Amino acid sequence: MNNIELISYVIVGLIPLIYFIIYIMTQLKRKKNKRNYLYGFIVAIVIALILFVIRLFIFTMSPLKKYIPTETSTTTSGDITTKEGDTTTKTTEKKSTTKKTTKATNDYNYDKILTPTGGEVVGKTPKGYEVKLVDGIYYVDGYLVANKTYDLPETYSPGKLNSTVNEAANKMFAAAKSEKGFNLYVASGFRSYSTQKSIYNRYVNNDGQKKADTYSARPGYSEHQTGLAFDVCDRNVGACITSGFDNTNQAKWLSENAYKYGFILRYVKGKDNETGYMYESWHFRYVGTELAEKLYNNGNWITMEDYFGLTSSYDSKPIGE
Ligand code: DAL
Ligand code: ZN
Repeated sequence: MNNIELISYVIVGLIPLIYFIIYIMTQLKRKKNKRNYLYGFIVAIVIALILFVIRLFIFTMSPLKKYIPTETSTTTSGDITTKEGDTTTKTTEKKSTTKKTTKATNDYNYDKILTPTGGEVVGKTPKGYEVKLVDGIYYVDGYLVANKTYDLPETYSPGKLNSTVNEAANKMFAAAKSEKGFNLYVASGFRSYSTQKSIYNRYVNNDGQKKADTYSARPGYSEHQTGLAFDVCDRNVGACITSGFDNTNQAKWLSENAYKYGFILRYVKGKDNETGYMYESWHFRYVGTELAEKLYNNGNWITMEDYFGLTSSYDSKPIGE
């Protein structure tokens, strides 16, 4: 039972009780007989029943249901960052999962997320890659994975881009400047769980959840929370984090050169079924040059999901669960 459900039960019980106490007190003042107490008791029971039915409707049948978290959520105030081709609305409905084998912890070593140590092997992908769970985070063949199937603990919050990623991005931007005169910059880098929640909810409110899910990750499922991914824009291009960026020379250059700096075009055009998201010409994820070159595939980008044999769907569970 989560906090909201608990509070609802307390309300259902408390209101009739308060009514009954007030009723008895007024009756005592008036010195009425016992039958009146029975009357007050019956009214209190009726109030409790009505409240219980209303509660039942809200939690099981009404459209409000989807707005009620299915597990305890400690809501923190959003540290608003940027927009992104993402969505919003309701608090996320998390999959009812079996507990992760390795418990999430607050004690992450964020410097080690590119070279994880320890943890436990939870299975193999259909393509034969080892899946490990380290401090509640999934790694496939040693690469952190965050998508619609593989979520991140709410407490996982590096606070900024990983320093290796930041350095690689600066090198890439410097190359883009010297080769092409572009003025690229990170428009949206690290986003905390609560920031993603605000962004996603805003998109859901605007577009509805179904649409929002095609371009925005639910909180706990965004690569931005890892500190390994970012959205790139150019100071001289108006379109920023929108499809208007797709046909720019900047997007073309990034798609052809990002791999040299260890980045992959994460949400490849026409591969929504694999990644779970529409094409994003602006979202890049650091994986290191070795894997990036393989996924670049001489200009015909392969997705992480295809390469490793992973699903990305809120309906499927991570390997090992
Ligand atoms: N736009 C990407 C999918 C995100 O929200 O992380
Ligand atoms: Zn992004």
